[in-house]
Amino acid sequence: MVATRLRRPLGLAALLAVGFAPLAAAAEGTTAERTITVMNTLWGSHAGLRANHAKGVVVEGSFTATPEAAPLSKASVFGGKPVPVTVRFSNATGLPAIADGAKPANPHGMALKFALPDGEFDIVANSLPFFPVATGEEFLALLTANAQTKPDTPKPTPLEQFVAAHPMVPKAGAGVKTPSSLARETYNGIDAFVFVNAEGKRQPFRFRIVPVAGNDHLSAEEAGKQPPNFLMEGLPATLAKGPVAFTIQAQLANPGDQTKDPTQVWPEDRRLVTMGTLTLSKAAADTAAAEKPLLFLPTNLVDGIEVSDDPLIDARTQAYAVSFGKRSQ
Ligand code: HEM
Repeated sequence: MVATRLRRPLGLAALLAVGFAPLAAAAEGTTAERTITVMNTLWGSHAGLRANHAKGVVVEGSFTATPEAAPLSKASVFGGKPVPVTVRFSNATGLPAIADGAKPANPHGMALKFALPDGEFDIVANSLPFFPVATGEEFLALLTANAQTKPDTPKPTPLEQFVAAHPMVPKAGAGVKTPSSLARETYNGIDAFVFVNAEGKRQPFRFRIVPVAGNDHLSAEEAGKQPPNFLMEGLPATLAKGPVAFTIQAQLANPGDQTKDPTQVWPEDRRLVTMGTLTLSKAAADTAAAEKPLLFLPTNLVDGIEVSDDPLIDARTQAYAVSFGKRSQ
């Protein structure tokens, strides 16, 4: 996910430490390959780890659908029986040692994998209300402008020029704050998907994953004073005392609402349906071992849930696959 908005995630010294040589290589390959190269330029290349959202924690739980879900989608996940779910919470950026309370660790990610009889179903969400750009090509251009902008770069810098042409970039992250716990944050699916029910009726929607305990955020000053692993160690400590619940909601599009642009939210009066409850019960015994084989893809869907015309969905899957290929070598 996007790790920076207007702000550079690293100072000049850190950028020089990771080097600019990969930017030349970023001129070659598919958009996804070039995106991973630029991410590695910004944050370094860390063997075995994700190019983005490198620092995370894996937990286990189960999802049970509400009766309101099945009429919207025939997907097996909404059948009403408890479904085992693996969840990985993460910090933004490809920096594996980033402090959990650091500003560029926002937006935090929440990736879910539901183990279903007919396949895997993933939701890959984060704490942004909407994405800063609408396509994979634009995201590559944003990351590249970021990497090309140094403190002494003449103004307007490449980043300033990009932002001037893409006004949603600074707005996307403007209200995002560090949560007091990974279990006190709302995570958004951002991209629109489409439910298909047993009668073949199609309903575009966006996922929203809401903590039952409510959102709770820290001021920038409070966040900066927290221990570096307070979120990643805090959730397992909370789970050792008892379960943590989220509701998984779907915001339903009205007829005519656009679905292809993830920079544009739908009005808040759109119907929100609680599709079910996710109950997290325990942390993985060893996150490093558990996260390695995990690959969350926004296109891992089961019958009854389909992609919309949003091009970012496929761009994400392509980039996640390149990152997975690299980290599995
Ligand atoms: C074109 C846009 C995007 C690109 C290129 C991109 C790229 C990436 C990459 C390369 C990874 C590491 C994947 C891996 O190695 O398994 C990643 C992880 C992640 N991204 Fe994105 N991302 C994009 C948009 C988004 C959006 C819109 C969201 C949220 C709605 C999001 C949420 C996440 C999360 C939660 C993870 C961590 C997954 C995990 O825990 O394994 N990303 N992203």
